[in-house]
Amino acid sequence: MITTYNSLGFVNTRAMFQVALKNSFAVPAYNFNNMEQLQAIVMACLETQSPVILQVSKGAREYADRTLLRYMAQGAVEMMKRIAREKNLGEIPIALHLDHGDSFELCKSCVESGFSSVMIDGSHLPYDENVALTKRVVDYAHQYDVTVEGELGILAGVEEDVKAENHSFTRPEEVADFLRQTGVDSLAIAIGTSHGAYKFKPGQKPMIRLDILHEIEKRIPGFPIVLHGSSSVPQAAVEIINKYGGKLNGSIGIPEDQLREAARSAVCKINIDSDGRLVMTAKIREVFASKPEEFDPRKYLGPAREALKQMYISKNKNVLGSAGQAPAILAVIK
Ligand code: 13P
Repeated sequence: MITTYNSLGFVNTRAMFQVALKNSFAVPAYNFNNMEQLQAIVMACLETQSPVILQVSKGAREYADRTLLRYMAQGAVEMMKRIAREKNLGEIPIALHLDHGDSFELCKSCVESGFSSVMIDGSHLPYDENVALTKRVVDYAHQYDVTVEGELGILAGVEEDVKAENHSFTRPEEVADFLRQTGVDSLAIAIGTSHGAYKFKPGQKPMIRLDILHEIEKRIPGFPIVLHGSSSVPQAAVEIINKYGGKLNGSIGIPEDQLREAARSAVCKINIDSDGRLVMTAKIREVFASKPEEFDPRKYLGPAREALKQMYISKNKNVLGSAGQAPAILAVIK
């Protein structure tokens, strides 16, 4: 039996991206695999009235159990609605998205269990195979009005099962043909972002190739573009981690002003995972060091959740520009 995403209270990404293009912002796509992350994401987005894409990777599905994770996301929608009523806030649109789907079967399983959006990542395949796999997923997902993200170009870095030593930038001359042949709803591109906390070598100037982005935009005007690997690796968090026994050497992220510029363009979705991991780890290490007598997980996970929430609030307001955009999206959906 298929569970439709709208019966769970999710929306797909179509209206989100339409409004993001019109109003020049990017929808946050934040990964989660546990309760505190999910609460922080949803509360930050509700308080800033931002749309949000809850991202679940294959690894997260394995870690938290795919059934539990889906019910957690569904519970987050119900929590959002209740708190919106209690605090007299507007509701926000929430999408549930599979991050880096690596097979048709995985995408199908997510569509059938209530995801409103899936990514099929065939970027490591030869072009024609990427086209064929992506088209197969699109043809299936669109029957249920689930939106699909494809990828062209390879990001460097390590993200759970997704590993690449070197990146290869998206070739602007391929994008229009890829969209035409596959029918995808959005396209992830490689312009120098990468997964993880080590995006540039020490001494290297952190810079993404906005020139390639603009060239791609010219070839597919008005089409939603996605940036993966967009953590900024806050140095304050890295310093706290290292101060309290951590060992992160030379971790560098994407400067927030470059992401802000990308968000003003056709980039409609920005993926952020590592920053949350760093902020959470920094706070937990700090509590362990400053309150060694504590052993109740709520006493360190609670402060970590609050630190995460503040980080997401800042991203929505100052980087993605998504704060205050929820009502415009809901108006399109209704
Ligand atoms: P970061 O590792 O930069 O947070 O990227 C996450 C991501 O792209 C998830 O798909």
